[in-house]
Amino acid sequence: FHPPLHNYCTCLFYSLCLFYNARVWLPDAAEVWKPAELVRDFSPGELTLSLQLEDGTRVEHKIDPRTNNLPPLRNPDILVGENDLTALSYLHEPAVLHNLKVRFIDSRLIYTYCGIVLVAINPYESLPIYEADIINAYSGQNMGDMDPHIFAVAEEAYKQMARDEKNQSIIVSGESGAGKTVSAKFAMRYFATVSSSSNEANVEERVLASSPIMEAFGNARTTRNDNSSRFGKYIEIGFDKKHSIIGANMRTYLLEKSRVVFQAHGERNYHIFYQLCGSSHLPEFKAFKLGWADDFCCTNQGQSPVIEGVDDAKEMCSTRRAFSLLGIGDGEQMAIYQILSAILHLSNVEVKDQSADRCSILPDDAHLMVFCELVGVPCEEMAHWLCHRKLKTTTETFVKPVPRINAVHGRDALAKHIYARLFSWIVDSINSALKSTGKQHSFIGVLDIYGFETFDINSFEQFCINYANEKLQQQFNLHVFKLEQEEYMKEEIPWTLIDFYDNQPCINLIEARLGILDLLDEECKMPKGSDDTWAQKLYNTLLKQNAHFDKPRLSNRAFIIHHFADKVEYQCVGFLEKNKDTVNEEQINVLKKSKFDLLLKLFEDEDKARGSASRSSNLAGRGGQPQRDTKKTVGLYSFLCTLIFFCSSKQIVKILTLYTPVIEFEERVSTSFITMIKSLLKDREESSSTLTMDAKKIFSVTFPFTPSSVALETVQIPMSLNLGFLTRI
Ligand SMILES: Nc1ncnc2c1ncn2[C@@H]1O[C@H](COP(=O)(O)OP(=O)(O)OP(=O)(O)O)[C@@H](O)[C@H]1O
Ligand SMILES: *[C@@H]1O[C@H](CO)[C@@H](O)[C@H](O)[C@H]1NC(C)=O
Ligand SMILES: *[C@@H]1O[C@H](CO)[C@@H](O)[C@H](O)[C@H]1NC(C)=O
Ligand SMILES: [Mg+2]
Repeated sequence: FHPPLHNYCTCLFYSLCLFYNARVWLPDAAEVWKPAELVRDFSPGELTLSLQLEDGTRVEHKIDPRTNNLPPLRNPDILVGENDLTALSYLHEPAVLHNLKVRFIDSRLIYTYCGIVLVAINPYESLPIYEADIINAYSGQNMGDMDPHIFAVAEEAYKQMARDEKNQSIIVSGESGAGKTVSAKFAMRYFATVSSSSNEANVEERVLASSPIMEAFGNARTTRNDNSSRFGKYIEIGFDKKHSIIGANMRTYLLEKSRVVFQAHGERNYHIFYQLCGSSHLPEFKAFKLGWADDFCCTNQGQSPVIEGVDDAKEMCSTRRAFSLLGIGDGEQMAIYQILSAILHLSNVEVKDQSADRCSILPDDAHLMVFCELVGVPCEEMAHWLCHRKLKTTTETFVKPVPRINAVHGRDALAKHIYARLFSWIVDSINSALKSTGKQHSFIGVLDIYGFETFDINSFEQFCINYANEKLQQQFNLHVFKLEQEEYMKEEIPWTLIDFYDNQPCINLIEARLGILDLLDEECKMPKGSDDTWAQKLYNTLLKQNAHFDKPRLSNRAFIIHHFADKVEYQCVGFLEKNKDTVNEEQINVLKKSKFDLLLKLFEDEDKARGSASRSSNLAGRGGQPQRDTKKTVGLYSFLCTLIFFCSSKQIVKILTLYTPVIEFEERVSTSFITMIKSLLKDREESSSTLTMDAKKIFSVTFPFTPSSVALETVQIPMSLNLGFLTRI
């Protein structure tokens, strides 16, 4: 998460004059923040700061007269490297980055607390800090007594679950490649280790075995992460009365279906396809007529079939072993691989132009033949419905040829659809395999959600992911500030409400009436609607009235959203198609005639799923729209609702565990100093009307003494005393 640090920052900037020697952070294009030191006293009203960089260069730093914002101050050196960021005198972006950097570079420490949050840096190398003896060291300990660690967070959750009988959740968030999935797995491994189950053999092992399967089917190489999760996962680990693991249940969200048929340069499709191709020489796979990943359209577009250091054939063995461990037998596994192979061949089916509005597939198209053989359906019928569609009006039904481009889209939609059905069938199977046998007493949930994402080209997928993150961030803000406020009230510390960054306007932009999603749904229902006409409607409706929405100067087919984390430009092309997510119903009907058991199961379940989806969709049933029109949107909404539900539900306890460090405050600042400051402030407040406690106003406080520069270095005022606004400048 992005802790709303800037806002602490506004509330810290209450004071004052800047003295000679004051140390600050200057924004820098290359290094982000550069340390600098004042070489001349500064008093309010002046327009520049005279500074010296560490290499001796002099810099005149201009102050924006509209905001009068001074550069953020550096923390005293003795504080840098603290294991809890809230112990810092100044908590702003450069302070956070610098502290994390010092801990990581100097001491290889990747974990740091920030109050209730554990911040982890991805070391990109295996560190010897996850062995069984480390787990044992953390087991039973208090969070504050040990170095920050994912095991400490896991232990805290476990303890609260066991001792306080409260269900727990751990949310792991961060941008792609930050290490979320790895962290979630360490947390799960911790639970599996400390909760030695008495009766049922290897249930922990089976819970852990779900990871390699989910990663094979839901992870792929992207330009940011060789093992990027392309779905969200919430896993609930169930415990019995004695706090032993007795099962698990997971829910997945928003699988990136488009990847099945398209990968950007340098990226890959889901790992499982390469594992399968890498194992095509095995006798049991001969019938699938596979070859190299290079041979198939849906695995060769990124032109990077090999990940350095990964042996796909070997990974296939782990996938198969994990399946077996979960009790998913060889027969079922082979059926899964058969469907995957069918998808590979389907993507290679060649659609030929016949005329402007007509296309065909050769009757002897080799890939079509293998596809149909693998899924057990007649070739001619399949070829026909790949190139034609059925149109229904109120009075009659007729069959219409489709142009090549539509047929290709239809073929790809079918491939995506089959894969998505397979994916959710596998999730269901894993859930049945991990179902608790005994009575579940409590649970610990782990949410591994894809982080905020921006690429060179961002599309519908990034939009959904970033929207979800925007919602999560909102929950996080509310939660953190609510907790903090409660803490203050408990300690009877007077405090003013911190005016934190509220991302509601950005969320409104996306989900409110006449917001981006609303306009998108509307456009999908228009007979002539296109990505371009939608873009125009976005500009017309949103450009003037929403500060979070922008149009790129050089494009009429893109829009910009100012998210909490970053500005992101989305390309409109493909949004309508992806939002509609339509599959030719007749193609599905052909598949349903198959004799192939697993395939039938996939679409059988779909009928049930769709029945309930259209009932719950209030958009369905409006005149004249295709039946499946709103499916994707319904999926997105229900995903977010579940998420919000479980974040705000009282039963599901704390998102992350609270840890407040005890600071030896007296060692650093004498009590008389605090009393003096407090009374000084009180006097000032009473005597002057110009002084307000409004967090955004800066007012000056003159120190009752002139501290020596050494004393200044060591002065530290903990936030908990509510003197945090007294920034030493
Ligand atoms: N604690 C760690 N120790 C060592 N290596 C790590 C650690 N955390 C992450 N890594 C490395 O970083 C890579 C990416 O991590 P991970 O797959 O967990 O990212 P992610 O946050 O889940 O990304 P995405 O959102 O793309 O799924 C891992 O494959 C691993 O090589
Ligand atoms: C990705 O995850 C799989 C499954 O856990 C693992 O075996 C593999 O080594 C990982 N790949 C990389 C590149 O980290
Ligand atoms: C925790 O979850 C279980 C279901 O797993 C439920 O039966 C129990 O009531 C919950 N406990 C609390 C304290 O909410
Ligand atoms: Mg991941």
